[in-house]
Amino acid sequence: MAALEKIVIGEKRVVTAWDVERIREDFPVLKQTVNGKPLVYLDNAASSQVPQVVIDRGSVYLEQEHSNIHRGVHYLSQRATTAYEGAREKVKRFINAREAKECIFVRGCTEGINLVMHGYGRKFVGEGDEVIISAMEHHSNIVPWQMLCEEKGARLRVIPINDAGELLLDEYDALLNERTKIVAVVHISNALGTVNPIKEIIARAHKQGVPVLIDGAQSAPHLAVDVQDLDCDFYVFSGHKMFAPTGSGVVYGKAEWLEKMNPFQGGGDMIRTVAFEKTTYAGLPNKFEAGTPAIASQIGLGAAIDYLESIGREQAVRYEHELLRYATEKISAIEGVRIIGTAREKASVLSFVIDEIHPHDIGTILDQEGIAVRAGHHCAQPVMKRLNVPATARASFAFYNTKQEIDTLAHAIERVIEVFA
Ligand SMILES: Cc1ncc(COP(=O)(O)O)c(C=O)c1O
Repeated sequence: MAALEKIVIGEKRVVTAWDVERIREDFPVLKQTVNGKPLVYLDNAASSQVPQVVIDRGSVYLEQEHSNIHRGVHYLSQRATTAYEGAREKVKRFINAREAKECIFVRGCTEGINLVMHGYGRKFVGEGDEVIISAMEHHSNIVPWQMLCEEKGARLRVIPINDAGELLLDEYDALLNERTKIVAVVHISNALGTVNPIKEIIARAHKQGVPVLIDGAQSAPHLAVDVQDLDCDFYVFSGHKMFAPTGSGVVYGKAEWLEKMNPFQGGGDMIRTVAFEKTTYAGLPNKFEAGTPAIASQIGLGAAIDYLESIGREQAVRYEHELLRYATEKISAIEGVRIIGTAREKASVLSFVIDEIHPHDIGTILDQEGIAVRAGHHCAQPVMKRLNVPATARASFAFYNTKQEIDTLAHAIERVIEVFA
């Protein structure tokens, strides 16, 4: 079993059973105690943890390669450039992009969506046009589009959801029309865990000639993603939610769109020639990477991809699915607990409320037990409003979590209820 063996970066192994204890050894942060209790880290949807091999790769860059990329002819700069561009090749393979130049490095999903809003939206969306999002979007896939619509006199349209937290596809069909200029939807909702039928959503938009952006912040870490098979026009994700450092992230875009789009930011590295009269821009991907990027972080993202591939991605996904099933059964059986988000297709997120107890109080008491969950609106206020809750407590899982940790969570929730009884 790969999970029992020493994990070698880049080497693919076949996992026949998930040895979670072996996997946990790879994550130093998990070994600590919090408030005298073993840390139970269930806030993976906010940021996941980083394996030692990724930390080590960052150290190699800082200790042996630290220098600026692209512009230098010297040894260190060439090494750093090779590592940085190597990470791009890994991203290409990971999401099955046609070409590495279709993978633009950004600081994270938020910056990526803003890049598409500026590059595509400000060029192709005009007065009276429409932008479609869904009712379960993270603020980072709402606010940029709202800003665009305000600037252009365009209209934001919203695909509604049912009480389980599933998109109403008939309503989506009714929204699509000749004024629609882009559809931007989340793959997996960070607030509810709903997995949206994005292939279908993309196909329906394409029938009308409308490009689609997928917010992959929660799917890149928890599902196998093939952008060519999905046929999405843009797919955006953050490294820090997929076992890489903060400051890393990717916008995948079809080359034909990226070529037509305006640059996002101006500055060094994104130009071909600069003169006061006129500047011409570099080709892909540099056109969208102005200034010195987060070199160490993006190299770390490449290492995280190697790590994910080495442990067996399919098995990891299957294991996380089983964890979510187990957690849903355990937590929903506790009297007074209500699960928010009961879609048929879900992944890695369990949001819940407890009668008469504010989620912040739940989070605070769980923290005393060493359990990290998130409490609040999860940067998705509109979906909270739609489901008539001001906030939820959210446990979110990764392949290093265990069923024992879920048992610990369940006992701690019972304690919360006792405290407030
Ligand atoms: C679905 C979704 N989209 C976008 C984001 C924004 O990601 P970031 O803060 O890394 O830019 C998040 C972060 O929680 C998310 O869950």
